[in-house]
Amino acid sequence: MNFHLSPIGVKSADAVANFWIKQLAIHICGDAGGAATLFPVTVLEAIQKSADFLGKKGVESSRLNAELLLAHLLKMPRMKLYLNFERTLTAAETDSLRELVKRRGQREPLQHIIGSTNFCGCEILVNRHALVPRPETELLAELGWNFLVTRHLSLVTALDFGTGTGCIAIALAVKCPAAKISALDFSADALALAKQNAAVNKVAERIEFFQGDGFAAIQSEGRVPRVPNQNAGDSCHSSLRKFEFDLIISNPPYIASAEIETLQPEVRDFDPRAALDGGADGLDFYRRLAAEAKAFLKPDGKIMLEFGDGQADAIKKICESEKWIVESVQEDYSHRARILVARR
Ligand SMILES: C[S@@+](CC[C@H](N)C(=O)[O-])C[C@H]1O[C@@H](n2cnc3c(N)ncnc32)[C@H](O)[C@@H]1O
Repeated sequence: MNFHLSPIGVKSADAVANFWIKQLAIHICGDAGGAATLFPVTVLEAIQKSADFLGKKGVESSRLNAELLLAHLLKMPRMKLYLNFERTLTAAETDSLRELVKRRGQREPLQHIIGSTNFCGCEILVNRHALVPRPETELLAELGWNFLVTRHLSLVTALDFGTGTGCIAIALAVKCPAAKISALDFSADALALAKQNAAVNKVAERIEFFQGDGFAAIQSEGRVPRVPNQNAGDSCHSSLRKFEFDLIISNPPYIASAEIETLQPEVRDFDPRAALDGGADGLDFYRRLAAEAKAFLKPDGKIMLEFGDGQADAIKKICESEKWIVESVQEDYSHRARILVARR
């Protein structure tokens, strides 16, 4: 690495890195009289020193994290940092960066620190009340809107079961203008965030939010599912039709309860437990969805479910035992089976 001569007169990369780490440690640990006044640093030095610190704290992709934190602080796209490597940070900027790096070093998720993330091109605000949207869930949402748009209907409907930040519901609404989305969650706090996100993405009037335990959330609103084989009901009760969806889509909690403690700190300590815990074997929600979702699905509708690495066979079995026809199992970017698509 090609370190600049630092203003404190040390030349070796290790010495510079160690100095910065020590400064951060002093600040974080509060020893040596509290926060030290740091020397002026350039953008490049700040990135390198922050990345070293984060690496020592076990943060993956520490350089990228350092760049994203600094880009956020300086309100510039990350790539623009590269044109500003020689720029000197002000004392206030250095102090603010130190605070951000300290939080990330304590393994707070980058998205929580920045306050938002990008999901399928939509800005999604995040906080401790909802799972941080994951890249593989973008694949689920994409499968969902591709299915909705190819139905070529003037109105298509979808239910997002366990909406969290609202990311899937919002992506479906944005990408499919003919879609009217229902989104449910057990958590009132998550729903408050999801509503905010729907407004930010200008799709609030096409998403209806429901709070409650699974399908009971929409039933408790006085609406009932289609009753299987009830021909008269199918033809004359228009209210019953309201909750027959073209698509039921879900990324439910799927971590086995005992495994939660073994997850990386960003997930274990910052994602809500209710967004992770899928019961003793992680499969509780798939059993519920497989047993209950058919009554809410149009005859030619589909269900799309995200699941964890290694769960594909078990979930396929659960669905088939409830007489679902499994159409496909889709892989994520690392070629691991992660999404099941089925029909009645
Ligand atoms: C894995 S998170 C998915 C959030 C979001 N859909 C996503 O993909 O980022 C699962 C969500 O299900 C919700 N949830 C957990 N138990 C539930 C229940 N019994 N009924 C409804 N929602 C529930 C959690 O609050 C959480 O928001």
